[in-house]
Amino acid sequence: MSLKINSFEEYQSKYKQSIEKPDAFWDKIAKSFQWQKDYDKVCEWNFEEPNVKWFLGGKLNITENVLDRHLEKRGNKLALIWEPNDPKDPFKRYTYRELYEKVCEFANALKNQGIQKGDRVVLYMPMVPELAIACLACARIGAIHSVVFAGFSAVAMADRINDAQAKMVITADGLNRGSKQVPLKRVVDEALENCNSVEKVIVYNCLGWEPNMQEGRDLWWRDATDGMSKNCPAEQMDSEDILFILYTSGSTGKPKGVVHTHGGYMVYTAYSFQNVFQYEESDVYWCTADIGWITGHSYIVYGPLLSGATTLMFEGVPTYPDAGRFWQVCDKHSVNQFYTAPTAIRALMACGDEHVLSYSLDSLKVLGTVGEPINEEAWKWYYLHVGKEKCPIVDTWWQTETGGIMISGLGSHSPMKETYAGYPLPGINAVLLDQDGNEIEENEVEGYLCIKHPWPSIIRTTYGDHERCRLTYFSTYKGYYFTGDGAKRAANGMYRIIGRVDDVINVSGHRFGTAEIEDAINSNRLAVESAVVGYPHEVKGQGIYAYVVCEEMPSDEDFARGEIVESVVKQIGKIAKPEKIQFVSGLPKTRSGKIMRRILRKIAEGEADKLGDTSTLLDPDVVEDIVKGAIK
Ligand code: WTA
Repeated sequence: MSLKINSFEEYQSKYKQSIEKPDAFWDKIAKSFQWQKDYDKVCEWNFEEPNVKWFLGGKLNITENVLDRHLEKRGNKLALIWEPNDPKDPFKRYTYRELYEKVCEFANALKNQGIQKGDRVVLYMPMVPELAIACLACARIGAIHSVVFAGFSAVAMADRINDAQAKMVITADGLNRGSKQVPLKRVVDEALENCNSVEKVIVYNCLGWEPNMQEGRDLWWRDATDGMSKNCPAEQMDSEDILFILYTSGSTGKPKGVVHTHGGYMVYTAYSFQNVFQYEESDVYWCTADIGWITGHSYIVYGPLLSGATTLMFEGVPTYPDAGRFWQVCDKHSVNQFYTAPTAIRALMACGDEHVLSYSLDSLKVLGTVGEPINEEAWKWYYLHVGKEKCPIVDTWWQTETGGIMISGLGSHSPMKETYAGYPLPGINAVLLDQDGNEIEENEVEGYLCIKHPWPSIIRTTYGDHERCRLTYFSTYKGYYFTGDGAKRAANGMYRIIGRVDDVINVSGHRFGTAEIEDAINSNRLAVESAVVGYPHEVKGQGIYAYVVCEEMPSDEDFARGEIVESVVKQIGKIAKPEKIQFVSGLPKTRSGKIMRRILRKIAEGEADKLGDTSTLLDPDVVEDIVKGAIK
């Protein structure tokens, strides 16, 4: 079943084959999975509508590939290791057979509560095994899961529930986060005041609390699963049936529901997992992401389990009880592949080397990063102190919309250079385009990163609004999937991701649209208008800088700032809090009324001396005032 590439030469030849004959290439890989009925055609596509389908006519259930297929050979192998928030609490382990039984049991509970194929189920959960189990249980019966990161507010959750018209919410009483406990059920209750589609709420008891339980609507996980069979036949799904919806931010409007499907997502997450991390049968693999984001979907749950791997799931945070927690867990469970985010590395780096130097980290073989560009200093620290100069670092570039890793090294088989993600995976026809949409053929250039041919886990649509999908990803450059990122290609063909070229801000690897944050700010009674930009932040990568126009300049700025922050927390969640808020008398606009973000960005970056020409502005004086009041 191994899909692994074993050398750089093999990568090069596979890459060539995959670009020349993509159907033949993916056909061979897809054949290694378990299909209930073979597909008739590998791929059908056009990027105009867009209409992309993979493994047409194929019938399967992804969970048969995640679970059933492994039972014979790996029934007693560990599928999941769960490490709790508090190192003093016991960890949990599930073999493939145990996980299979848990998933089936909960799948039967879902059915028993009236969930059917095609229904949407929202998950708002702590990082406990039940979150992974609930995802797989939905997939087992053909229900569509939509995980909402447990840091989002009630308003943000309600938006997502309503957009998906979800029939059920699965949540917990609360969650552990370092030394804090955060209520979840209470947030769900608040969200549901504005959602009519939800009929049932299943609550997992994580903290032993006694939250409000609404008669007829809410029931405990333990009661829902009581007496349920540990076998549940897998629903037959079409390759192109929806597996999940995951909401993500773009440059305009509200977050959109990115849609992934059973067949293509299965093939690509497993293929990319095995190759990027070079997983070997007895390895323990750990990705520190939260399942609320795509990284957790693809590389905690689906990719590793499809590959028969042992995947570790961590409930806690990197700095609790101290900044050595990650490394302690690596030693405790003999972790072989470790995958985290640059923001976590920078935060730990700032806590001092002693926390990492006291652990052996002998078991580590491959290190990975994801979510944002990694700066040289963080890369070197990771390489030296965590990898002890013996582990390759795979800097994996990809997106919620791509479903899986697109550009990255393959374990130790690829050339590696700090701050470079590297080469595209086989099957990924990456190109750089210039301003006018022409492909740039040569190397040592920068351009807009686009993909020319579909890959199996490409976004299929944005839920309920296909036109939005077309406009966002397929209309900027005709015939290409546009990533929204700018990139540089070095002389040797390696890619370095520069960052977003649109109005998306990446805070600690989490995406926010400027429009989304501005809407939240403007919902405050004090604010008339606002503009939000990103600025370089030492730990978070980017921080949020908000320029806010009020009816009158606030007399107590700190109070007003508190109010504005409160509105953002209420509309989106704490994770989107602006770091800096400057009250301004007006915003720099062109004569046609467009906000000149370029200028605001420069000011936020502390480069007010590089504003360029401001003479075309409606009111150039505004800029001078903003520069004077800029927050350092
Ligand atoms: C950024 C996360 C540089 C990029 C999997 C992309 C990266 C956005 C990298 C997607 C990387 C992700 N180097 N930038 N290795 N990985 N990005 O949807 O701007 O949360 O477009 O997916 O994160 O974020 P998303």
